[in-house]
Amino acid sequence: MRLTETADIWWKNAVVYCLDVETFFDTNGDGCGDLRGVGQRIDHLADLGVTCLWLMPFYPSPDRDDGYDITDFYGVDPRLGTHGDLVELITLAGDRGIRVIADLVVNHTSNAHPWFQSARASRQSPYRGWYVWRDEPPADQHEGIVFPDQETSLWQYDDEAGQYYLHRFYKYQPDLDIANAEVREEIQRVMGFWLQLGLSGFRVDAVPFLLDTTGAEDAGNLPDPHDYLRDLRAFLDRRHGQAMLLGEVNLPYPDVRRFFGDEDGDELTMCFDFIGMQRMYLSLARNDPAELVKSLRQRPATTEESQWGTFVRNHDELTLDKLSDDERQEVFDAFGPEKEMQLYGRGLRRRLPPMLGNDQARLKMVYSLLFSLPGTPVLFYGEEIGMGENLAIEGRGAVRSPMQWTTGPNGGFSTADPEHLTAPVTEGEFGPEHVNVAAQRRDPDSLLNWIKLLVRRYRECPELSWGECTILEHNAPAVMAHRSEYEDGAIVTAHNFGAEATEVTLGVAGSGVGLRAVDLLRDGSTELAENGSLTLQLEPYASRWLRIVGPGDRYLI
Ligand code: NOJ
Ligand code: CA
Repeated sequence: MRLTETADIWWKNAVVYCLDVETFFDTNGDGCGDLRGVGQRIDHLADLGVTCLWLMPFYPSPDRDDGYDITDFYGVDPRLGTHGDLVELITLAGDRGIRVIADLVVNHTSNAHPWFQSARASRQSPYRGWYVWRDEPPADQHEGIVFPDQETSLWQYDDEAGQYYLHRFYKYQPDLDIANAEVREEIQRVMGFWLQLGLSGFRVDAVPFLLDTTGAEDAGNLPDPHDYLRDLRAFLDRRHGQAMLLGEVNLPYPDVRRFFGDEDGDELTMCFDFIGMQRMYLSLARNDPAELVKSLRQRPATTEESQWGTFVRNHDELTLDKLSDDERQEVFDAFGPEKEMQLYGRGLRRRLPPMLGNDQARLKMVYSLLFSLPGTPVLFYGEEIGMGENLAIEGRGAVRSPMQWTTGPNGGFSTADPEHLTAPVTEGEFGPEHVNVAAQRRDPDSLLNWIKLLVRRYRECPELSWGECTILEHNAPAVMAHRSEYEDGAIVTAHNFGAEATEVTLGVAGSGVGLRAVDLLRDGSTELAENGSLTLQLEPYASRWLRIVGPGDRYLI
Protein backbone atom coordinates (compact mmCIF):
# COMPACT_ATOMS: atom_id res chain seq x y z
CA MET A 1 0.00 0.00 0.00
CA ARG A 2 1.28 3.42 -0.85
CA LEU A 3 0.67 5.42 2.31
CA THR A 4 -0.74 8.27 0.24
CA GLU A 5 -3.65 6.01 -0.65
CA THR A 6 -4.78 6.33 2.95
CA ALA A 7 -4.91 10.08 2.34
CA ASP A 8 -6.75 9.86 -0.99
CA ILE A 9 -9.27 7.31 0.25
CA TRP A 10 -9.37 9.13 3.55
CA TRP A 11 -12.67 7.69 4.82
CA LYS A 12 -11.27 4.17 4.86
CA ASN A 13 -9.36 4.73 8.09
CA ALA A 14 -11.01 7.91 9.33
CA VAL A 15 -12.14 8.56 12.88
CA VAL A 16 -15.64 9.99 12.59
CA TYR A 17 -17.24 11.98 15.43
CA CYS A 18 -20.95 12.76 15.34
CA LEU A 19 -22.39 15.63 17.33
CA ASP A 20 -25.61 17.53 17.80
CA VAL A 21 -24.71 21.22 17.56
CA GLU A 22 -27.58 22.04 19.92
CA THR A 23 -26.11 20.13 22.84
CA PHE A 24 -22.35 20.50 22.34
CA PHE A 25 -21.23 23.98 23.47
CA ASP A 26 -23.20 27.22 23.85
CA THR A 27 -21.24 30.44 23.26
CA ASN A 28 -23.92 33.12 23.66
CA GLY A 29 -25.62 31.91 26.83
CA ASP A 30 -29.04 31.29 25.29
CA GLY A 31 -29.02 27.66 26.45
CA CYS A 32 -28.64 26.22 22.97
CA GLY A 33 -25.34 24.92 21.61
CA ASP A 34 -24.15 26.67 18.46
CA LEU A 35 -21.77 26.36 15.51
CA ARG A 36 -19.37 28.84 17.08
CA GLY A 37 -19.34 26.56 20.11
CA VAL A 38 -18.22 23.59 18.04
CA GLY A 39 -15.45 25.82 16.66
CA GLN A 40 -14.38 26.80 20.17
CA ARG A 41 -14.09 23.16 21.12
CA ILE A 42 -12.36 22.04 17.92
CA ASP A 43 -9.13 21.32 19.80
CA HIS A 44 -10.89 18.77 21.96
CA LEU A 45 -11.71 16.90 18.77
CA ALA A 46 -8.24 17.41 17.34
CA ASP A 47 -6.68 16.19 20.58
CA LEU A 48 -8.89 13.11 20.49
CA GLY A 49 -7.62 12.40 16.98
CA VAL A 50 -10.91 12.89 15.13
CA THR A 51 -10.42 13.22 11.37
CA CYS A 52 -14.03 13.69 10.27
CA LEU A 53 -16.74 15.61 12.04
CA TRP A 54 -20.36 14.63 11.28
CA LEU A 55 -22.80 17.40 12.11
CA MET A 56 -26.36 16.29 12.81
CA PRO A 57 -28.94 18.47 11.00
CA PHE A 58 -28.31 22.19 11.51
CA TYR A 59 -30.93 23.35 8.98
CA PRO A 60 -33.96 25.51 9.83
CA SER A 61 -36.51 23.27 11.49
CA PRO A 62 -39.50 23.31 13.83
CA ASP A 63 -37.30 20.82 15.70
CA ARG A 64 -39.96 18.23 16.36
CA ASP A 65 -37.52 15.46 15.41
CA ASP A 66 -34.31 17.13 16.57
CA GLY A 67 -33.78 18.84 13.21
CA TYR A 68 -34.61 15.82 11.02
CA ASP A 69 -37.74 17.77 10.02
CA ILE A 70 -36.36 20.45 7.74
CA THR A 71 -38.01 23.59 6.37
CA ASP A 72 -35.10 24.85 4.23
CA PHE A 73 -32.45 22.52 2.80
CA TYR A 74 -30.23 25.51 1.98
CA GLY A 75 -30.42 27.25 5.36
CA VAL A 76 -28.79 27.27 8.79
CA ASP A 77 -31.09 27.34 11.80
CA PRO A 78 -30.67 30.82 13.35
CA ARG A 79 -30.57 29.25 16.84
CA LEU A 80 -27.34 27.51 15.82
CA GLY A 81 -25.70 30.27 13.82
CA THR A 82 -25.26 31.41 10.25
CA HIS A 83 -23.70 30.20 7.02
CA GLY A 84 -20.72 32.35 8.02
CA ASP A 85 -20.35 30.44 11.30
CA LEU A 86 -20.46 27.16 9.43
CA VAL A 87 -17.73 28.25 7.01
CA GLU A 88 -15.61 29.43 9.96
CA LEU A 89 -16.07 26.03 11.59
CA ILE A 90 -15.13 24.16 8.41
CA THR A 91 -12.03 26.37 8.13
CA LEU A 92 -11.00 25.79 11.74
CA ALA A 93 -11.58 22.06 11.41
CA GLY A 94 -9.57 21.95 8.19
CA ASP A 95 -6.64 23.57 9.96
CA ARG A 96 -6.71 20.68 12.44
CA GLY A 97 -6.90 18.07 9.69
CA ILE A 98 -10.59 17.44 10.31
CA ARG A 99 -13.07 17.16 7.43
CA VAL A 100 -16.71 18.03 8.00
CA ILE A 101 -19.74 16.11 6.74
CA ALA A 102 -23.42 16.71 7.50
CA ASP A 103 -26.70 14.89 7.52
CA LEU A 104 -28.49 14.85 4.18
CA VAL A 105 -32.14 14.31 5.11
CA VAL A 106 -33.99 14.21 1.80
CA ASN A 107 -36.37 11.30 2.24
CA HIS A 108 -38.83 13.87 3.60
CA THR A 109 -39.29 17.51 4.54
CA SER A 110 -41.06 19.06 7.49
CA ASN A 111 -44.75 19.61 6.85
CA ALA A 112 -43.94 23.29 7.56
CA HIS A 113 -41.62 23.36 4.51
CA PRO A 114 -42.86 25.92 1.95
CA TRP A 115 -42.86 23.13 -0.70
CA PHE A 116 -45.33 21.10 1.32
CA GLN A 117 -47.39 24.16 2.23
CA SER A 118 -47.73 24.95 -1.44
CA ALA A 119 -48.31 21.31 -2.42
CA ARG A 120 -51.15 20.80 0.03
CA ALA A 121 -52.84 24.08 -0.92
CA SER A 122 -53.62 23.19 -4.53
CA ARG A 123 -53.48 20.35 -7.02
CA GLN A 124 -52.07 22.90 -9.46
CA SER A 125 -49.11 23.75 -7.23
CA PRO A 126 -45.75 23.11 -8.92
CA TYR A 127 -44.81 21.24 -5.73
CA ARG A 128 -47.87 18.97 -5.60
CA GLY A 129 -45.98 16.24 -7.42
CA TRP A 130 -42.98 16.55 -5.10
CA TYR A 131 -44.83 14.51 -2.47
CA VAL A 132 -46.70 11.20 -2.66
CA TRP A 133 -50.51 11.48 -2.63
CA ARG A 134 -53.38 9.00 -2.67
CA ASP A 135 -57.15 9.33 -2.58
CA GLU A 136 -57.33 6.21 -0.43
CA PRO A 137 -54.61 4.73 1.77
CA PRO A 138 -53.39 1.32 0.56
CA ALA A 139 -54.40 -1.80 2.46
CA ASP A 140 -50.91 -2.22 3.94
CA GLN A 141 -50.84 1.29 5.42
CA HIS A 142 -50.16 -0.07 8.91
CA GLU A 143 -47.05 -2.05 7.95
CA GLY A 144 -43.48 -0.85 8.41
CA ILE A 145 -44.19 1.98 10.84
CA VAL A 146 -40.88 3.30 12.17
CA PHE A 147 -42.17 5.07 15.28
CA PRO A 148 -44.99 2.85 16.53
CA ASP A 149 -45.34 4.82 19.78
CA GLN A 150 -46.61 7.86 17.87
CA GLU A 151 -47.88 6.66 14.52
CA THR A 152 -50.46 4.12 13.42
CA SER A 153 -50.27 4.53 9.63
CA LEU A 154 -47.83 5.52 6.88
CA TRP A 155 -50.55 7.62 5.28
CA GLN A 156 -52.10 10.78 6.68
CA TYR A 157 -55.23 12.48 5.41
CA ASP A 158 -54.68 16.19 4.84
CA ASP A 159 -57.84 18.32 4.95
CA GLU A 160 -56.38 21.11 2.90
CA ALA A 161 -55.09 18.78 0.19
CA GLY A 162 -58.16 16.55 0.25
CA GLN A 163 -55.84 13.53 -0.13
CA TYR A 164 -53.62 11.24 1.88
CA TYR A 165 -49.83 11.73 1.84
CA LEU A 166 -47.08 9.20 2.55
CA HIS A 167 -44.84 9.63 5.58
CA ARG A 168 -42.38 6.88 6.46
CA PHE A 169 -41.53 8.61 9.73
CA TYR A 170 -43.66 11.02 11.79
CA LYS A 171 -46.76 12.49 10.16
CA TYR A 172 -45.12 15.92 10.22
CA GLN A 173 -42.42 14.51 7.87
CA PRO A 174 -44.13 14.01 4.46
CA ASP A 175 -42.02 11.91 2.06
CA LEU A 176 -40.61 13.51 -1.04
CA ASP A 177 -41.25 11.62 -4.27
CA ILE A 178 -37.88 10.70 -5.71
CA ALA A 179 -39.58 9.22 -8.76
CA ASN A 180 -40.13 12.86 -9.70
CA ALA A 181 -37.23 14.15 -11.81
CA GLU A 182 -37.54 17.67 -10.37
CA VAL A 183 -37.10 16.32 -6.86
CA ARG A 184 -34.06 14.32 -7.91
CA GLU A 185 -32.48 17.38 -9.48
CA GLU A 186 -33.22 19.47 -6.42
CA ILE A 187 -31.47 16.96 -4.17
CA GLN A 188 -28.35 17.27 -6.30
CA ARG A 189 -28.57 21.05 -6.08
CA VAL A 190 -28.71 20.78 -2.29
CA MET A 191 -25.62 18.57 -2.26
CA GLY A 192 -23.79 20.87 -4.64
CA PHE A 193 -24.56 23.85 -2.44
CA TRP A 194 -23.05 22.39 0.74
CA LEU A 195 -20.07 20.89 -1.09
CA GLN A 196 -19.34 24.36 -2.43
CA LEU A 197 -19.41 25.70 1.15
CA GLY A 198 -16.77 23.16 2.10
CA LEU A 199 -18.40 19.95 3.27
CA SER A 200 -16.59 16.70 2.46
CA GLY A 201 -19.67 14.55 2.08
CA PHE A 202 -22.87 13.50 3.76
CA ARG A 203 -24.34 11.03 6.17
CA VAL A 204 -27.36 10.04 4.13
CA ASP A 205 -30.46 9.61 6.25
CA ALA A 206 -32.76 6.62 5.84
CA VAL A 207 -31.43 5.48 2.45
CA PRO A 208 -33.75 2.48 1.89
CA PHE A 209 -36.77 4.72 2.49
CA LEU A 210 -35.34 7.42 0.26
CA LEU A 211 -35.01 4.93 -2.58
CA ASP A 212 -38.35 3.25 -1.96
CA THR A 213 -40.88 4.40 -4.53
CA THR A 214 -43.85 2.68 -2.91
CA GLY A 215 -46.89 4.83 -3.38
CA ALA A 216 -45.56 6.44 -6.53
CA GLU A 217 -46.48 3.46 -8.75
CA ASP A 218 -49.20 5.50 -10.42
CA ALA A 219 -46.54 7.55 -12.15
CA GLY A 220 -45.59 4.46 -14.21
CA ASN A 221 -42.09 3.97 -15.69
CA LEU A 222 -40.41 4.14 -12.31
CA PRO A 223 -36.67 4.65 -12.53
CA ASP A 224 -34.46 2.02 -10.86
CA PRO A 225 -33.78 3.55 -7.43
CA HIS A 226 -30.21 2.22 -7.46
CA ASP A 227 -29.59 4.06 -10.71
CA TYR A 228 -30.54 7.16 -8.82
CA LEU A 229 -28.12 6.44 -5.99
CA ARG A 230 -25.44 5.85 -8.62
CA ASP A 231 -26.29 9.24 -10.13
CA LEU A 232 -25.92 10.92 -6.76
CA ARG A 233 -22.51 9.33 -6.24
CA ALA A 234 -21.38 10.28 -9.74
CA PHE A 235 -22.54 13.83 -9.12
CA LEU A 236 -20.63 13.95 -5.84
CA ASP A 237 -17.48 12.63 -7.51
CA ARG A 238 -17.77 15.17 -10.33
CA ARG A 239 -18.27 18.08 -8.01
CA HIS A 240 -15.71 17.20 -5.37
CA GLY A 241 -13.66 14.11 -6.15
CA GLN A 242 -12.77 13.42 -2.53
CA ALA A 243 -16.12 13.49 -0.82
CA MET A 244 -18.03 10.51 0.52
CA LEU A 245 -21.53 9.27 1.23
CA LEU A 246 -22.03 7.44 4.51
CA GLY A 247 -25.41 5.77 4.38
CA GLU A 248 -27.87 4.74 7.04
CA VAL A 249 -28.99 1.32 5.75
CA ASN A 250 -30.25 -0.88 8.55
CA LEU A 251 -30.95 -4.04 6.55
CA PRO A 252 -29.68 -7.63 6.56
CA TYR A 253 -26.18 -7.93 5.06
CA PRO A 254 -27.11 -9.20 1.57
CA ASP A 255 -29.48 -6.25 1.19
CA VAL A 256 -27.00 -3.67 2.49
CA ARG A 257 -24.44 -4.98 0.02
CA ARG A 258 -26.58 -3.64 -2.84
CA PHE A 259 -26.30 -0.10 -1.51
CA PHE A 260 -22.55 -0.09 -2.04
CA GLY A 261 -23.32 -0.61 -5.73
CA ASP A 262 -22.21 -3.42 -8.00
CA GLU A 263 -18.71 -4.82 -8.18
CA ASP A 264 -17.24 -1.38 -8.68
CA GLY A 265 -18.81 0.10 -5.54
CA ASP A 266 -20.36 3.07 -7.32
CA GLU A 267 -23.20 3.92 -4.90
CA LEU A 268 -22.70 4.62 -1.18
CA THR A 269 -19.07 4.98 -0.14
CA MET A 270 -19.79 3.62 3.32
CA CYS A 271 -22.67 1.93 5.11
CA PHE A 272 -23.10 1.64 8.85
CA ASP A 273 -22.69 -1.89 10.18
CA PHE A 274 -25.99 -2.19 12.07
CA ILE A 275 -25.87 -5.98 12.03
CA GLY A 276 -22.38 -6.25 13.55
CA MET A 277 -23.36 -3.67 16.18
CA GLN A 278 -26.43 -5.67 17.26
CA ARG A 279 -24.51 -8.96 17.33
CA MET A 280 -21.81 -7.29 19.41
CA TYR A 281 -24.37 -6.44 22.11
CA LEU A 282 -25.63 -10.01 22.11
CA SER A 283 -22.03 -11.17 22.53
CA LEU A 284 -21.50 -8.75 25.39
CA ALA A 285 -24.69 -9.93 27.07
CA ARG A 286 -23.41 -13.52 26.83
CA ASN A 287 -19.75 -12.80 27.65
CA ASP A 288 -19.11 -14.81 24.53
CA PRO A 289 -17.81 -13.37 21.26
CA ALA A 290 -19.34 -16.11 19.05
CA GLU A 291 -22.20 -13.98 17.66
CA LEU A 292 -19.92 -11.09 16.79
CA VAL A 293 -17.51 -13.51 15.09
CA LYS A 294 -20.40 -14.99 13.13
CA SER A 295 -21.50 -11.58 11.87
CA LEU A 296 -17.95 -10.64 10.86
CA ARG A 297 -17.75 -13.81 8.82
CA GLN A 298 -21.06 -13.04 7.13
CA ARG A 299 -20.32 -9.38 6.51
CA PRO A 300 -19.90 -8.75 2.78
CA ALA A 301 -16.47 -7.63 1.63
CA THR A 302 -16.15 -4.04 0.44
CA THR A 303 -14.31 -2.79 -2.61
CA GLU A 304 -10.98 -1.03 -2.15
CA GLU A 305 -12.71 2.34 -2.00
CA SER A 306 -15.71 1.35 0.14
CA GLN A 307 -15.83 0.80 3.85
CA TRP A 308 -18.10 -0.22 6.71
CA GLY A 309 -18.87 2.42 9.33
CA THR A 310 -18.63 0.70 12.71
CA PHE A 311 -20.14 2.05 15.89
CA VAL A 312 -21.06 1.26 19.47
CA ARG A 313 -23.78 3.88 19.93
CA ASN A 314 -25.43 6.53 17.81
CA HIS A 315 -27.94 9.31 18.36
CA ASP A 316 -30.98 7.03 18.00
CA GLU A 317 -32.21 4.17 20.13
CA LEU A 318 -29.78 1.25 20.28
CA THR A 319 -31.79 -0.74 17.80
CA LEU A 320 -31.91 -4.51 18.25
CA ASP A 321 -34.45 -5.00 15.49
CA LYS A 322 -32.42 -7.60 13.59
CA LEU A 323 -32.09 -9.96 16.57
CA SER A 324 -34.69 -12.66 17.20
CA ASP A 325 -37.25 -11.94 19.94
CA ASP A 326 -35.38 -14.21 22.36
CA GLU A 327 -32.00 -12.71 21.55
CA ARG A 328 -33.37 -9.18 21.98
CA GLN A 329 -34.84 -10.17 25.31
CA GLU A 330 -31.42 -11.43 26.42
CA VAL A 331 -29.91 -8.02 25.64
CA PHE A 332 -32.81 -6.25 27.37
CA ASP A 333 -32.37 -8.46 30.44
CA ALA A 334 -28.63 -7.78 30.58
CA PHE A 335 -28.52 -4.10 29.68
CA GLY A 336 -31.95 -2.49 29.91
CA PRO A 337 -34.41 -4.49 31.99
CA GLU A 338 -36.67 -1.57 32.91
CA LYS A 339 -39.48 -0.55 30.60
CA GLU A 340 -38.45 3.12 30.64
CA MET A 341 -35.04 2.11 29.20
CA GLN A 342 -36.66 0.45 26.18
CA LEU A 343 -38.13 2.04 23.09
CA TYR A 344 -40.47 0.94 20.31
CA GLY A 345 -40.17 -2.66 21.57
CA ARG A 346 -36.93 -2.99 19.59
CA GLY A 347 -34.27 -0.86 21.25
CA LEU A 348 -32.70 0.78 24.27
CA ARG A 349 -32.49 4.50 24.95
CA ARG A 350 -29.28 4.09 26.90
CA ARG A 351 -25.60 4.83 26.55
CA LEU A 352 -23.04 2.08 27.05
CA PRO A 353 -21.42 2.95 30.43
CA PRO A 354 -24.59 2.60 32.54
CA MET A 355 -25.43 -0.61 30.65
CA LEU A 356 -22.11 -2.05 31.80
CA GLY A 357 -22.45 -0.79 35.37
CA ASN A 358 -19.66 1.67 34.57
CA ASP A 359 -17.10 -1.17 34.60
CA GLN A 360 -14.10 0.67 33.17
CA ALA A 361 -12.16 -2.41 32.04
CA ARG A 362 -15.18 -3.72 30.17
CA LEU A 363 -15.89 -0.33 28.60
CA LYS A 364 -12.30 -0.03 27.49
CA MET A 365 -12.52 -3.50 25.96
CA VAL A 366 -15.57 -2.51 23.90
CA TYR A 367 -13.83 0.57 22.48
CA SER A 368 -10.70 -1.46 21.80
CA LEU A 369 -12.89 -3.77 19.72
CA LEU A 370 -14.42 -0.82 17.88
CA PHE A 371 -11.03 0.51 16.84
CA SER A 372 -9.44 -2.83 16.00
CA LEU A 373 -12.18 -4.53 13.97
CA PRO A 374 -12.19 -3.76 10.26
CA GLY A 375 -14.13 -0.60 9.44
CA THR A 376 -14.18 3.12 10.10
CA PRO A 377 -15.14 3.85 13.70
CA VAL A 378 -17.88 6.42 14.26
CA LEU A 379 -18.11 7.93 17.74
CA PHE A 380 -21.11 9.76 19.16
CA TYR A 381 -20.26 12.82 21.28
CA GLY A 382 -19.75 12.03 24.95
CA GLU A 383 -18.69 8.44 24.32
CA GLU A 384 -15.05 9.47 24.70
CA ILE A 385 -15.65 10.35 28.36
CA GLY A 386 -18.22 7.66 29.12
CA MET A 387 -21.31 9.84 29.51
CA GLY A 388 -24.53 8.15 30.63
CA GLU A 389 -28.05 8.64 29.31
CA ASN A 390 -30.60 10.95 30.88
CA LEU A 391 -33.86 9.01 31.07
CA ALA A 392 -35.63 12.20 32.17
CA ILE A 393 -35.43 13.34 28.53
CA GLU A 394 -38.20 11.92 26.36
CA GLY A 395 -37.66 9.13 23.85
CA ARG A 396 -34.42 9.03 21.88
CA GLY A 397 -33.42 12.37 23.43
CA ALA A 398 -32.15 10.42 26.46
CA VAL A 399 -28.76 10.05 24.77
CA ARG A 400 -28.64 13.65 23.51
CA SER A 401 -28.08 15.46 26.82
CA PRO A 402 -25.56 18.35 26.94
CA MET A 403 -21.88 17.53 26.54
CA GLN A 404 -20.12 17.50 29.93
CA TRP A 405 -17.01 19.67 29.85
CA THR A 406 -16.33 20.59 33.48
CA THR A 407 -17.78 20.35 36.99
CA GLY A 408 -19.06 23.95 36.58
CA PRO A 409 -22.68 25.05 36.15
CA ASN A 410 -24.47 23.03 33.46
CA GLY A 411 -21.35 20.91 33.15
CA GLY A 412 -19.65 23.85 31.39
CA PHE A 413 -22.04 23.48 28.43
CA SER A 414 -23.81 26.84 28.83
CA THR A 415 -24.04 29.83 31.15
CA ALA A 416 -27.84 29.96 30.81
CA ASP A 417 -30.27 29.20 33.63
CA PRO A 418 -30.75 25.44 33.76
CA GLU A 419 -34.44 25.81 32.86
CA HIS A 420 -33.46 27.52 29.60
CA LEU A 421 -31.19 24.73 28.36
CA THR A 422 -32.14 22.98 25.16
CA ALA A 423 -31.91 19.69 27.09
CA PRO A 424 -31.34 19.04 30.81
CA VAL A 425 -27.89 18.09 32.04
CA THR A 426 -27.60 14.54 33.42
CA GLU A 427 -27.65 14.21 37.21
CA GLY A 428 -26.22 11.62 39.59
CA GLU A 429 -23.46 9.07 39.02
CA PHE A 430 -23.03 10.06 35.37
CA GLY A 431 -23.48 13.80 35.88
CA PRO A 432 -20.70 16.32 35.22
CA GLU A 433 -19.35 16.15 38.80
CA HIS A 434 -18.22 12.60 38.03
CA VAL A 435 -17.91 12.50 34.25
CA ASN A 436 -16.36 15.45 32.41
CA VAL A 437 -13.66 16.28 29.89
CA ALA A 438 -11.54 18.51 32.16
CA ALA A 439 -10.96 15.83 34.80
CA GLN A 440 -10.33 13.06 32.29
CA ARG A 441 -7.72 15.10 30.42
CA ARG A 442 -5.67 15.07 33.62
CA ASP A 443 -6.18 11.42 34.54
CA PRO A 444 -3.83 9.06 32.70
CA ASP A 445 -6.17 6.11 33.35
CA SER A 446 -9.31 7.82 32.11
CA LEU A 447 -11.49 6.48 29.33
CA LEU A 448 -10.67 9.66 27.39
CA ASN A 449 -6.95 8.90 27.46
CA TRP A 450 -7.60 5.27 26.57
CA ILE A 451 -9.64 6.27 23.53
CA LYS A 452 -6.96 8.77 22.48
CA LEU A 453 -4.43 5.94 22.59
CA LEU A 454 -6.70 3.67 20.56
CA VAL A 455 -7.20 6.41 17.98
CA ARG A 456 -3.46 7.03 17.67
CA ARG A 457 -2.65 3.35 17.25
CA TYR A 458 -5.56 2.79 14.85
CA ARG A 459 -4.27 5.60 12.65
CA GLU A 460 -0.72 4.22 12.83
CA CYS A 461 -1.85 0.72 11.85
CA PRO A 462 -3.67 0.91 8.51
CA GLU A 463 -3.60 -2.90 8.50
CA LEU A 464 -6.66 -2.70 10.76
CA SER A 465 -8.86 -0.76 8.36
CA TRP A 466 -7.24 -1.57 5.01
CA GLY A 467 -6.09 -5.11 5.60
CA GLU A 468 -7.40 -8.62 5.49
CA CYS A 469 -8.97 -9.68 8.77
CA THR A 470 -8.81 -13.32 9.88
CA ILE A 471 -10.51 -14.59 13.00
CA LEU A 472 -8.04 -16.78 14.91
CA GLU A 473 -9.21 -20.15 16.21
CA HIS A 474 -8.28 -21.14 19.77
CA ASN A 475 -9.72 -22.84 22.83
CA ALA A 476 -10.61 -19.96 25.17
CA PRO A 477 -14.36 -19.48 24.60
CA ALA A 478 -14.57 -15.98 26.11
CA VAL A 479 -11.79 -14.65 23.88
CA MET A 480 -12.02 -13.15 20.43
CA ALA A 481 -8.75 -12.87 18.54
CA HIS A 482 -8.09 -11.64 15.06
CA ARG A 483 -5.20 -10.96 12.79
CA SER A 484 -5.13 -8.02 10.37
CA GLU A 485 -2.61 -8.09 7.57
CA TYR A 486 -1.67 -5.75 4.82
CA GLU A 487 1.42 -6.31 2.69
CA ASP A 488 4.24 -6.94 5.18
CA GLY A 489 2.41 -5.67 8.27
CA ALA A 490 0.52 -7.90 10.71
CA ILE A 491 -1.38 -6.97 13.85
CA VAL A 492 -2.90 -9.51 16.21
CA THR A 493 -5.53 -8.55 18.76
CA ALA A 494 -7.14 -10.42 21.62
CA HIS A 495 -10.21 -9.38 23.59
CA ASN A 496 -11.51 -11.14 26.66
CA PHE A 497 -15.31 -10.89 26.87
CA GLY A 498 -15.27 -12.69 30.22
CA ALA A 499 -15.06 -11.46 33.80
CA GLU A 500 -12.44 -14.16 34.54
CA ALA A 501 -8.73 -14.06 33.75
CA THR A 502 -7.79 -16.58 31.08
CA GLU A 503 -4.93 -17.85 28.95
CA VAL A 504 -5.09 -18.14 25.19
CA THR A 505 -2.72 -19.63 22.64
CA LEU A 506 -2.95 -18.33 19.11
CA GLY A 507 -1.31 -19.51 15.93
CA VAL A 508 -0.04 -16.26 14.46
CA ALA A 509 2.77 -17.28 12.08
CA GLY A 510 3.94 -20.34 10.14
CA SER A 511 7.15 -20.38 12.15
CA GLY A 512 8.00 -18.27 15.16
CA VAL A 513 11.75 -18.27 14.81
CA GLY A 514 13.07 -14.76 15.41
CA LEU A 515 9.58 -13.27 15.72
CA ARG A 516 8.18 -11.22 18.60
CA ALA A 517 4.74 -9.84 19.34
CA VAL A 518 5.10 -6.28 20.58
CA ASP A 519 2.26 -4.83 22.64
CA LEU A 520 0.88 -1.62 21.17
CA LEU A 521 -1.40 -0.53 24.02
CA ARG A 522 1.02 -1.21 26.88
CA ASP A 523 4.70 -1.98 27.48
CA GLY A 524 6.14 -5.36 26.75
CA SER A 525 6.66 -7.96 24.10
CA THR A 526 6.37 -11.75 23.89
CA GLU A 527 8.54 -14.18 21.92
CA LEU A 528 6.64 -16.45 19.59
CA ALA A 529 7.06 -20.19 20.14
CA GLU A 530 9.01 -22.07 17.49
CA ASN A 531 5.79 -23.32 15.92
CA GLY A 532 4.61 -19.73 15.45
CA SER A 533 2.17 -19.67 18.35
CA LEU A 534 1.70 -16.88 20.84
CA THR A 535 0.48 -17.46 24.39
CA LEU A 536 -1.14 -14.56 26.22
CA GLN A 537 -2.34 -14.21 29.81
CA LEU A 538 -5.48 -12.11 29.67
CA GLU A 539 -6.98 -10.26 32.62
CA PRO A 540 -10.77 -9.96 32.89
CA TYR A 541 -12.01 -7.88 29.93
CA ALA A 542 -8.44 -7.51 28.64
CA SER A 543 -7.70 -5.76 25.34
CA ARG A 544 -4.40 -6.50 23.60
CA TRP A 545 -3.05 -5.27 20.28
CA LEU A 546 0.28 -6.74 19.19
CA ARG A 547 2.46 -6.15 16.17
CA ILE A 548 4.31 -9.20 14.89
CA VAL A 549 7.89 -8.19 14.11
CA GLY A 550 11.03 -9.93 12.94
CA PRO A 551 14.65 -8.85 13.46
CA GLY A 552 14.84 -6.83 10.23
CA ASP A 553 11.55 -4.98 10.70
CA ARG A 554 11.76 -1.21 10.93
CA TYR A 555 8.36 -0.49 12.43
CA LEU A 556 8.29 2.28 15.00
CA ILE A 557 6.80 0.46 17.96
C1 NOJ B 1 -33.00 8.45 10.91
C2 NOJ B 1 -32.37 9.35 11.92
O1 NOJ B 1 -31.22 8.73 12.45
C3 NOJ B 1 -33.42 9.61 12.98
O2 NOJ B 1 -32.87 10.30 14.07
C4 NOJ B 1 -34.57 10.36 12.35
O3 NOJ B 1 -35.62 10.51 13.29
C5 NOJ B 1 -35.11 9.62 11.14
N1 NOJ B 1 -34.08 9.13 10.27
C6 NOJ B 1 -36.00 10.53 10.33
O4 NOJ B 1 -35.22 11.48 9.65
CA1 CA C 1 -26.25 29.44 21.73
